[in-house]
Amino acid sequence: MAKMWDARFKKTENSRVNDFNSSISFDSRMYREDIEGSIAHATMLGRCGIITEEESAKITAELRNILRDIESGALPIDPEAEDIHMFVEEVLTNRIGDTGKRLHTARSRNDQVALDIRMYTKNQIKEVRALLARLLSTIADIAAGHTESVMAGYTHLQRAQPVTYAHYILAYAQMFVRDDMRLSQTYQRTNYSPLGSGALASTTYPIDRHMAAELLGFDGVTENSIDGVSDRDFLCEFAFDLSLIMTHLSRFSEEIILWCSTEFGFIELDDAFSTGSSIMPQKKNPDIAELVRGKTGRVYGDLVTLLTMLKGIPLAYNKDMQEDKEAIFDAIDNVKLCIELFTSMIATMTVKTEKLRAAASKGFINATDCADYLTKKGMPFRDAYKVSGKLVAYCIDRGTDFESLSMEEYKSFSEMFEDDVYEAVNLENCVNCRLVYGGPSVKSTERQIELVKKYIESVK
Ligand code: ARG
Repeated sequence: MAKMWDARFKKTENSRVNDFNSSISFDSRMYREDIEGSIAHATMLGRCGIITEEESAKITAELRNILRDIESGALPIDPEAEDIHMFVEEVLTNRIGDTGKRLHTARSRNDQVALDIRMYTKNQIKEVRALLARLLSTIADIAAGHTESVMAGYTHLQRAQPVTYAHYILAYAQMFVRDDMRLSQTYQRTNYSPLGSGALASTTYPIDRHMAAELLGFDGVTENSIDGVSDRDFLCEFAFDLSLIMTHLSRFSEEIILWCSTEFGFIELDDAFSTGSSIMPQKKNPDIAELVRGKTGRVYGDLVTLLTMLKGIPLAYNKDMQEDKEAIFDAIDNVKLCIELFTSMIATMTVKTEKLRAAASKGFINATDCADYLTKKGMPFRDAYKVSGKLVAYCIDRGTDFESLSMEEYKSFSEMFEDDVYEAVNLENCVNCRLVYGGPSVKSTERQIELVKKYIESVK
């Protein structure tokens, strides 16, 4: 295949080298960003008098046609092209002849690809954020229906203290709010145009980098041409943001997997979001949650790929950097799929509130409340803690619980116990007495739901 650099070379390229070098199979997905970047570049070249206004108009008009033709399928992307940048330029030159050859004036593929991948990142951050907004509003809706669904909160996977299902699920909302904020900050740092950095040393042409950046909706331009073409920090950041989203989805998935087991039985997944077994007729498996948990590893792998790709390459551009794309594309594709399916899965799952309540009444999760009761009556907390501990042991021996003990039994542990202890150890009361900001009371969870909803509105 003829190459742009044939003039300099005595031999044609080995066909295996061509395949090895080529990135068209994966960077073709940036065709839109590449064409829009070229339109802005050509517009700027025309306005700055580096090419004529007519040439600029001819180039930009044809680039628009190319974009339209790719999108309609009329122009298939040639798998033999080296990369998307070469492909678009070749089609342009084939269609409008010599004028097309002026597009690459004052530009290198190095600043071109740095521009494209920034634009692509910006678009994808927006898409991931839209999916997160849907996930957050789904969580807020679920929470709104469960502000009074008492359940045991766990530490060490042991029943610990009473909370509600709303409070529990809103903990995940906080993680996804932070994920969203993190993405918006990554977006800000990505939002500077490297175009005009050239191969690495900018250019001798009197280009206007700010003009091109503004045409493309960037906040500004990168400050140093060497950094402009060498920087992929924004991809590492984005991959980290995506990795942490996966961490959160994976923890949530792990709980869903546990909770839909017969041993817990706290939730039931909708049939449409479960799978059966090819041999065991009774099975209903939480494959989606398991796959989300499983895919977390590959997204972490993508982050490590990017960091490792960068760590040893000298400034400025090196071909190693072509490896950035498959890693970030893989992370983006998988995270988007995971958020989307996970959201639909939780939107359709049934929360078995009676099972949650029954489990809550079994683990002495009101033992702290019993100690607090005595403390409020004047006993030092450490003594009250001991009395409550003895009561737990007594109940375990007799197979009973705090709610069922008689007044005589209570009194035999401390004279301070009175009739109001039954209110103090009632699980619903235990939850609603936790009026502290950020706690599980109905009031507090209602406020949390409001805040999540306000956040979603504020980022729309
Ligand atoms: N396909 C290349 C990449 O993804 C484009 C940049 C090529 N630049 C170069 N000097 N060979 O990185």
